[in-house]
Amino acid sequence: MRIDRFQAENFRNLAAFAFKPGGGVNLIHGENGQGKTNIIEALWMFTGCQSFRTHRSGELIARGAAFAKIETDFFAKGRPQNARIRIENKREAFLNGVAQRTPRNLLGEFPAVVFSPDSLSIVKDGPAEKRRFMDIAVSQIKPVYAAVLSRYLKTLAQRNALLKMLAERRQDPRLLAAYDEQLALLGGRLSVYRHEYVERLAEKAAGIHRGISAGSEELKVRYLPCVRCEGGTQQQYAEAIAAALFKNREADIRRQATSPGPHKDDLQVCINGSCARSYGSQGQQRSCALALKLGEAAIIEESAGEPPVALLDDVMSELDAGRQAYVFGAFEHWQVFITCCDPSALLRAAKGADFEIRAGTLARQEED
Ligand SMILES: Nc1ncnc2c1ncn2[C@@H]1O[C@H](COP(=O)(O)OP(=O)(O)O)[C@@H](O)[C@H]1O
Ligand SMILES: [Mg+2]
Repeated sequence: MRIDRFQAENFRNLAAFAFKPGGGVNLIHGENGQGKTNIIEALWMFTGCQSFRTHRSGELIARGAAFAKIETDFFAKGRPQNARIRIENKREAFLNGVAQRTPRNLLGEFPAVVFSPDSLSIVKDGPAEKRRFMDIAVSQIKPVYAAVLSRYLKTLAQRNALLKMLAERRQDPRLLAAYDEQLALLGGRLSVYRHEYVERLAEKAAGIHRGISAGSEELKVRYLPCVRCEGGTQQQYAEAIAAALFKNREADIRRQATSPGPHKDDLQVCINGSCARSYGSQGQQRSCALALKLGEAAIIEESAGEPPVALLDDVMSELDAGRQAYVFGAFEHWQVFITCCDPSALLRAAKGADFEIRAGTLARQEED
């Protein structure tokens, strides 16, 4: 996977931006607030996922402009391709000139992995962030997952609306059955997809973490479904979820919210047997996040049959020299985009193209 050309029109502060990155390391540097992260964010949008910073289209469109447009020529699946996204109130995506029903259809077409200071939240924050990580990671290698998740969340919202009406005695409780059945079926699928993914990730990340910590620490990652059904099939998970929903009906009506289900799942991240979130040092948490991200990248590479593009936003300066070297080693022969303020130290380590960004434009470009 390689991005050959990227251009943006009125995407945040990128009023009229275009560049042709190199096939290896691309260093994007400049002072704060110049548009480095905006470039990474725009590139990430071609994965078919939401922006990693916002759900609101309005924020992505340059202030005062009516719409934003981003476009890329890239090489994937053995051929040159083109993707285009137009953001107004709604978003339109085109792949090789063909309009897509939803931008989500780009999932799996543009393999990429993004690593930013926010990635630390996979380790440091609570279940919601861990689910977000799983959802984005699984969607990329199994696009159907995103569709199932979207249907699950819609059904969940409908069930919650019904619970509210039931609490006010404005509806018949028997109506819950249809929603519960749907939620259980969709939830069963989500659970198995997550379970399979996390098992694969756990193995990869543990190996990487051993490398980063020079064998001194053991990373264990485990899927913690809200409704337990260890090693269950989709059917078995569905039955367990259906039973939990049934059992909690009264309480759910009182709380006007659905208590059990995959919308409450969690991920356990442990170092040497202790929870990294509660007991890990800042440095240990960083190493865990790095191992998980590199693991995610390795899985995409396996699934896509080619390395994804690595987007590293402002993370290199936070890593010590050893871990920086590990990252460069892991991404050798990959196309990598690295943003930073001060490129001097990184430039020595990385050979490749070098772009300076000033006020949303390309101030200078150099190639090795
Ligand atoms: N919708 C928008 N319209 C115009 N400018 C925007 C918009 N959203 C963000 N910006 C500008 O983009 C800049 C931040 O870009 P960013 O890529 O985060 O900077 P950095 O180079 O530090 O990574 C800020 O100057 C901000 O005002
Ligand atoms: Mg930034």
